[in-house]
Amino acid sequence: MTEAEERRAYRFKGKVAIVTGAASGIGRATALGLAVEGADVAICDLNLAGLESLAAEIGRLGRKSFAETVDVGAKEAVFSFVARAAELLGPVDILVNNAGTGQFQPFAMMEDEEYDRVMNTNVRSVFHFARAVLPSMMDNDYGKIVNITSIMSVIAGQGQSIYNTSKGAAKMMTQGIAADCAGYHINVNAVGPGMVLTGLTRNMLGDPDQAAMFEEKIPLRRIGLPEDIAAGVLFLCSDAAGYVHGETLFIDGGMICTR
Ligand SMILES: NC(=O)c1ccc[n+]([C@@H]2O[C@H](COP(=O)([O-])OP(=O)(O)OC[C@H]3O[C@@H](n4cnc5c(N)ncnc54)[C@H](O)[C@@H]3O)[C@@H](O)[C@H]2O)c1
Repeated sequence: MTEAEERRAYRFKGKVAIVTGAASGIGRATALGLAVEGADVAICDLNLAGLESLAAEIGRLGRKSFAETVDVGAKEAVFSFVARAAELLGPVDILVNNAGTGQFQPFAMMEDEEYDRVMNTNVRSVFHFARAVLPSMMDNDYGKIVNITSIMSVIAGQGQSIYNTSKGAAKMMTQGIAADCAGYHINVNAVGPGMVLTGLTRNMLGDPDQAAMFEEKIPLRRIGLPEDIAAGVLFLCSDAAGYVHGETLFIDGGMICTR
C-alpha cells in the first residue's frame, strides 16, 4: 500500500475519539468504524455489558479503548470521563455526542421527570461533553465534534414534542458551538438520522407490519442501518470534511427531501 493509499484507508490513524452511547446502535457502529480506520476510542454508556463487548472488539482490531458507564447528563461524571480518556489515550481529537433517548409520554401528560430525562440526555450531554473537550482542542488547534440529532430536529412528530425540542436544541447548539469555534480549526457538525433499526426503535421497527408502513414513507424504501449513519459521521470526523462547519447532514433515505 502506498502512503497515500494508507492515509485514505486509515483516516483516523493516531487519533483519539470519544463516542457516547456507544454500547449499541449508531454509537457502536461509529466507534467500530473509527477503530477500524485507526483511532483509539473512549466509549461510555449506561449499558456496561454492551461497552465491554465493544471494548473487546476494538481490542481485536488492535486499537486501544477506555470504557466506563457514564450518565451523559451528569456533569461531574462527564468531566471525569473525558479527563481519564485523555490521560489513558491522549488528547481527544474527535467527539461524537451520540447518546440519546426517546420520549414516552405525550405532551399533555408529560411529567417534569420525563422532560428532564429527555433534555438531560439529548441536550445537556452535548453541553457538558463539548465544554469538557474544547479547552484541549483549542490548545491543539484541532478538533472534530459531531452531534447526533435527528430528522425530528426539523420535523414535528405526534407524541414527540419534547424529543423534537431536544433535537432542535441540539441542532442549534451545534451551530452555536460552530460559530464560537470557527477560529480554532475545530469543525462542529450534526448528523440527523431518519428511521434506523436500533435499540431505540426495535419495538416499532422490529414489527414487520410497522416496518413496512415506514418503508412506504421512505423514498429509498428501506429502514436505515446503524452503518448508514456511521458512514456520514466518519466523513464529518475526517479531514476531507474540513470545510463543512455548523451543518446538519441528514441521512434518512430521502425522507426530508420529499416533505
Ligand atoms: N434509531 C433511529 O431511528 C434514530 C433516528 C434519529 C436519531 N437517532 C439518534 O441516534 C442516537 C443513537 O441512538 P440509537 O438509535 O443508536 O439507539 P440505541 O438505543 O441503540 O443507542 C443509544 C445508546 O445511548 C445510551 N444512553 C441512553 N441514555 C443515556 C445516558 N443518560 N447516558 C449514557 N448513555 C445513554 C443507551 O444505553 C444506548 O446504548 C440517539 O441520539 C438518537 O436520538 C436515532
